[in-house]
Amino acid sequence: MNHPLEKFLSTYLNQQEEAGIPGFVLGEKPSESRPTPIKLDLPVSTIAPINLSQPVPVRSVPQENRPQQPIQPSIQTNVQVERSHDTIRAELADLYRRGKDCTACSELSRNRTKVVFGAGNASAKIMIIGEGPGFEEDQQGVPFVGPAGQLLNKMLAAINVDRTKDVFISNVIKCRPPGNRTPSPEECRTCMPILKRQIAIIRPSIILLLGKTAASAVLNNTAPINQIHGAEFTYLSIPVVVTYDPTELLRDSSLKRPAWDDLQKFQMRYRELTHE
Ligand code: URA
Repeated sequence: MNHPLEKFLSTYLNQQEEAGIPGFVLGEKPSESRPTPIKLDLPVSTIAPINLSQPVPVRSVPQENRPQQPIQPSIQTNVQVERSHDTIRAELADLYRRGKDCTACSELSRNRTKVVFGAGNASAKIMIIGEGPGFEEDQQGVPFVGPAGQLLNKMLAAINVDRTKDVFISNVIKCRPPGNRTPSPEECRTCMPILKRQIAIIRPSIILLLGKTAASAVLNNTAPINQIHGAEFTYLSIPVVVTYDPTELLRDSSLKRPAWDDLQKFQMRYRELTHE
């Protein structure tokens, strides 16, 4: 460890580890967590598991001294490793710790209350991805907890998906754009490494994308949502279904019917893939 940045980074991470990390919602370990560990093409994490249940204020490090460690989204395919639920949680915790003080988008970081990293079961077979946090999400630091989230919960319950047990949910961008404006393509590009890494860590069986921003950021598909909703794509070989953002459904209730059709297709594919 010769490079001064490496030394600083190591000290910084040790301090963080000593202090614990602030509350970050990954949900409780589900009582019926997977009986067998999931097979993943990922290297073994060298990071010790972190206690996520005890939010502790982190010792502050001056903004200008914070390391801008790049987040590596890539999946390494050369090592086949089986990882436990706790290891996956620890990898997500490490990612959160590296991203929670991000200042890459100056307007978003100046205006946010909390970084909204993601929530749910770290070993979930379903990953749901929306655009970005709104007012309630920004206040609570949890995705989809406002009116759109409540609608989403009802729609998921109607296809027998329990959001806390079966899903890990996140957004393309982790900080609320002021006034809930649509995030710019530049902001999406800047934040995407975190989402890519989340997908690489969780390695879900299926992904549900909510709305145009999510479809365009993840699939690089900029077609209008009314042309691609209900269609299936793949991302890193993972099947992906696209539907409307529930925020859109609250604005235009005529979209609820096609969104419901999309969710039924999603449910069928999920059952095929997981035999559940
Ligand atoms: N819409 C989103 O895309 N994400 C949220 O977290 C809430 C509403």
